[in-house]
Amino acid sequence: MDKVDNPSNQTKPARTILVTGSGGQLGSELRKIAPGYPEFAFIFTSHHDLPVENPEALSKFFSDQRIDYCVNCAAYTAVDKAESEPEKAFLINATAPGLLARECMKLQAKFIHISTDYVYDGSIRRPLREDDPVGTMNVYGASKLKGEQEVVRLNLDALIIRTSWVYSSFGNNFVKTMLRLFGEKEALNVINDQTGCPTYAGDLAEFIMAFVEFFERGNHFKGIVNFCNSGETTWYDFARTIQEFAPKTACVIHPVPTSQYPTPARRPGYSVLDTSKIQGLLGMEIPFWKDSLQKCLKALHVI
Ligand SMILES: NC(=O)c1ccc[n+]([C@@H]2O[C@H](COP(=O)([O-])OP(=O)(O)OC[C@H]3O[C@@H](n4cnc5c(N)ncnc54)[C@H](OP(=O)(O)O)[C@@H]3O)[C@@H](O)[C@H]2O)c1
Repeated sequence: MDKVDNPSNQTKPARTILVTGSGGQLGSELRKIAPGYPEFAFIFTSHHDLPVENPEALSKFFSDQRIDYCVNCAAYTAVDKAESEPEKAFLINATAPGLLARECMKLQAKFIHISTDYVYDGSIRRPLREDDPVGTMNVYGASKLKGEQEVVRLNLDALIIRTSWVYSSFGNNFVKTMLRLFGEKEALNVINDQTGCPTYAGDLAEFIMAFVEFFERGNHFKGIVNFCNSGETTWYDFARTIQEFAPKTACVIHPVPTSQYPTPARRPGYSVLDTSKIQGLLGMEIPFWKDSLQKCLKALHVI
């Protein structure tokens, strides 16, 4: 467990933000920007310090701490593996958010939970609003949807942010896999019939902190909001754009239909998120995905 104390104001104890699963992409981006928020103290926990599915560990941890916000970045994110480990996926993605939410309720802490575009089944072919019908195509999506429902059922002061196609300079993701494969392979097949929007975890971290500041100013909101970068693309076009920005290699990228690239988990053909609600609430514009991709490539020292 790591603490980042930012004691800017000596007369008032800093407000405390707990970040669970902080070794992952989003957790690492929050840790990176934490020094820019000196009015908050941050507690970053890992899988090892605070296993979010363990009720005893949670209850002991929460009773020992002052917590004003809990940002749940812990998740089972292996979409294909989840098909053969549904119990584990449901434990971490569905049971654990309910347990965390209950602990937050006891402390009157705001619970900020992260969900996914895979709660939609791709049947609607326009940017998806928060109140559009859900319908999942794989175990991961079903486990994340159940997690949302566990939190909503408690009717507490919680914010659920649905996001999509997350990448970062931290952890493993599509951008880093493509960069590696461009150097190793002469040719690559990448799916061209799944449309979504990439999300730079650094931008999502900034928006989460904007929400915290929004609440600190006395504003209220509970429920679901969508967040992804603006624009839309396919995995193929995403790969082509990474290649366009990255140092040149001879690797040729071929567009292929999903049918030629079978995976254990089925994925929606369309899952672009409509982000007008979050932009209206926070009064902030969301960066275009290609601009954010460049920020990530700079953080990786690729450009
Ligand atoms: N990645 C995407 O493309 C994507 C898309 C849509 C939504 N999301 C959602 O966005 C959120 C953040 O995702 P991410 O990409 O940052 O995920 P990530 O990089 O896979 O990080 C998840 C973190 O959760 C930790 N974790 C796993 N099981 C845990 C447990 N039982 N107790 C405590 N920590 C545990 C992991 O630790 P270990 O590595 O030590 O197990 C890891 O540090 C998640 O809710 C995810 O479902 C992600």
